[in-house]
Amino acid sequence: MEQLLEQIATYKKEIGAVTVSDAKGVEDFRIKYLGTKGIVKALMGEMKQVAAENKKEAGQLLNEFKQFVENKYEALKESASNGQEPATSALDLTLPGDSLPIGSRHPVILMRNRIVSIFQRLGFAVADGPEIEDDWHNFGALNLPEHHPARDMQDTFYVQQNPDWVLRTHTSNVQIREMEKGKLPVRVVIPGRVYRNETVSARSHCFFHQVEGLYIDEKVSFADLKQTLYFFVKEMYGKDVKVRFRPSYFPFTEPSAEMDVSCFICGGSGCNICKKTGWVEILGCGMVHPNVLTNCNIDPAKYTGFAFGMGIERPAMLKYGINDIRLFSENDLRFLKQFTSAT
Ligand code: PHE
Repeated sequence: MEQLLEQIATYKKEIGAVTVSDAKGVEDFRIKYLGTKGIVKALMGEMKQVAAENKKEAGQLLNEFKQFVENKYEALKESASNGQEPATSALDLTLPGDSLPIGSRHPVILMRNRIVSIFQRLGFAVADGPEIEDDWHNFGALNLPEHHPARDMQDTFYVQQNPDWVLRTHTSNVQIREMEKGKLPVRVVIPGRVYRNETVSARSHCFFHQVEGLYIDEKVSFADLKQTLYFFVKEMYGKDVKVRFRPSYFPFTEPSAEMDVSCFICGGSGCNICKKTGWVEILGCGMVHPNVLTNCNIDPAKYTGFAFGMGIERPAMLKYGINDIRLFSENDLRFLKQFTSAT
């Protein structure tokens, strides 16, 4: 009996220290301890030598030992299968993937796309042109006289190496380039960046963005201009917004007008945005001046057209409640990320 106790104690110690790394180790353990010629069976065989009065106690000890070995066997099986898991089931296809940071559209681009898409629905194509422009395309062809204040050193950035080059002050240079192609009719919108030598503040910057439009064909009238812009305003600001035209002056259009919409913030009753007038100025427009058509080899007796131009930053500021134009170009991600889902 004592011998049996000693043997069990030794085996328990031995078994307690067993570790396996794979299924083969588990099977070796089973054969050694629980197999038909294994240790548990052998110890059971020794029951015969135990004195009759100790048999009950020895039986209990052996059963308990057998249970101990079986528990260990189960534990080893488990740890071996865990060890193997990376090769088989670590790939959990139901887990969400690693998320990559995705950028968001810039609020100026969101507003540009909105404006452009409205005109695209009316059949306007999108045109593009250089930001560094010669004097002729930015000023001369547009009937801007020599002494016009927009040409002033204070308003325009000139390129030092070549006095004939400027950073375009409006996207109207592309109007000229489109008309020069000689393919009529012309019906384009021109989104792009423009530059003016202005003091940078919360309300103005030395560069900003515009969308201009140009339509040249036979019999294009001021009524077409108005109807096109009415459609734009309805799509952009809603059907209840009112529109008014005020006579204005641009060298490249005659007649010229500024277009206002009833303030979409206060509904026309007067607020800070509309400076208590109930109206917000959104664009300049007019019928293309005959001199401009002539400059582009288009016969003004046969063709007429209209043009319009608007800034993008101002409506974007109104739509998104942005109070400082400099935020658009500071590239602060905390600012830019806010427009991910804006349309
Ligand atoms: N080019 C003008 C500007 O930048 C806008 C404009 C375009 C006005 C077309 C009338 C017609 O201010």
